[in-house]
Amino acid sequence: MWNYQFLGNMMGLPFKMIGVLLHLPRMELPFKMTPYFPKLDLKFKPFAENLKSELLGGIIALFVLGLTYLYYRMKTPKAKSKILVLGGTGYIGKFIVKASAEAGNPTFALVRESTVSHPEKSKLIESFKSSGVTILYGDLSDHESLVKAIKQVDVVISTLGGQQIDDQVKLIAAIKEAGNIKRFLPSEFGLDVERHNAVEPVTSFLEKKVKIRRAIEAEGIPYTYICSNAFAGYFLPTLGQQNVTAPPRDKVVILGDGNVKAIYVKEEDIGTYTIKAVDDPRTLNKILYVRPPANILTFNELVSLWENKIKNTLEKVYIPEDQLLKYIQESPFPANLMLALAHSMHVKGDCTNYEIDPSLGVEASNLYPEVKYTTVDNYLNAFV
Ligand SMILES: NC(=O)c1ccc[n+]([C@@H]2O[C@H](COP(=O)([O-])OP(=O)(O)OC[C@H]3O[C@@H](n4cnc5c(N)ncnc54)[C@H](OP(=O)(O)O)[C@@H]3O)[C@@H](O)[C@H]2O)c1
Repeated sequence: MWNYQFLGNMMGLPFKMIGVLLHLPRMELPFKMTPYFPKLDLKFKPFAENLKSELLGGIIALFVLGLTYLYYRMKTPKAKSKILVLGGTGYIGKFIVKASAEAGNPTFALVRESTVSHPEKSKLIESFKSSGVTILYGDLSDHESLVKAIKQVDVVISTLGGQQIDDQVKLIAAIKEAGNIKRFLPSEFGLDVERHNAVEPVTSFLEKKVKIRRAIEAEGIPYTYICSNAFAGYFLPTLGQQNVTAPPRDKVVILGDGNVKAIYVKEEDIGTYTIKAVDDPRTLNKILYVRPPANILTFNELVSLWENKIKNTLEKVYIPEDQLLKYIQESPFPANLMLALAHSMHVKGDCTNYEIDPSLGVEASNLYPEVKYTTVDNYLNAFV
């Protein structure tokens, strides 16, 4: 009898508290309140006759509670990372900021105070604000402003421009000092800077990005490098022709033999894939290659796609590689940079001339097949 009472005290209490809720009608209440509330007078009757049902009730209750907990954990969306974008008022930056806000991530954009009075950029900043983006004021050269901004977020994305690539060491120092960043995406958004056959001045430019990679890794900052290949908006509206504002309708210049595959990705899709990657463990300390299968095309394929749309055959002028190299050497900056990038992409095939090494990188359209990316075919329809 004593044993049961002892057992009842030890095991019955938590079970009874749940059991009471479950089979109240069948049970004699396990305790009564003394008039001296809140002291509870726990008075157990011998449990011999209902110990089994107590235990069973408790086990069922725990099971039900466990299932309910699991159900709500699955239903409740994981809190999304807070994302800070530096360079959000730049060309690719605005697409990253918008994608982050649209995906429901608390989004912060660090902007320079001087930019707020810029006629075009002020409108962009207003549009950020109306999408719920928090604007923070700061500058890459103002360490305190960086640390203060970084401390408010989980992820930092840099879309700083070509002129600021080296200066990202300042951002790395601030991230290191803040000490809270789960993922850093430096300003890459192009070719894999360690897998290319580019010539100068592209080689030196890409080397700066390589140095930033090494600095991030040396500091042990978790990272993802986005290799988004060619921005569609840079190439497709003119089919890569120089000094024009629309795609060609009679004559097209083709670099090399036109049989090398390049990759074009619409900026909104780059934004979507980038934001998907920030919380994905599969992209941690990896390169995310954006290679949407329908957008991997040779220049000749691109031209024939365009010819079909405009129902016209274009005259084709092929520029052999040695002639292109000569143009690059003779052209001033930035024309030489643009030509050298085109050489790397369209002659050397630097977007596609290697397999992705799974120990280093992953491919975006494989990871996120749910993303309905814009195909080059569809993109070109807007220009017909
Ligand atoms: N794959 C491709 O086809 C392709 C094409 C172009 C570029 N890219 C790459 O994409 C990346 C971004 O280039 P982008 O052309 O988009 O850049 P961008 O248009 O030049 O924008 C640069 C951004 O950096 C900000 N910024 C400049 N100095 C700053 C400072 N001191 N402090 C804080 N912010 C500062 C600018 O702010 P303000 O608005 O205040 O000036 C702007 O928002 C680069 O890595 C570039 O190499 C790739």
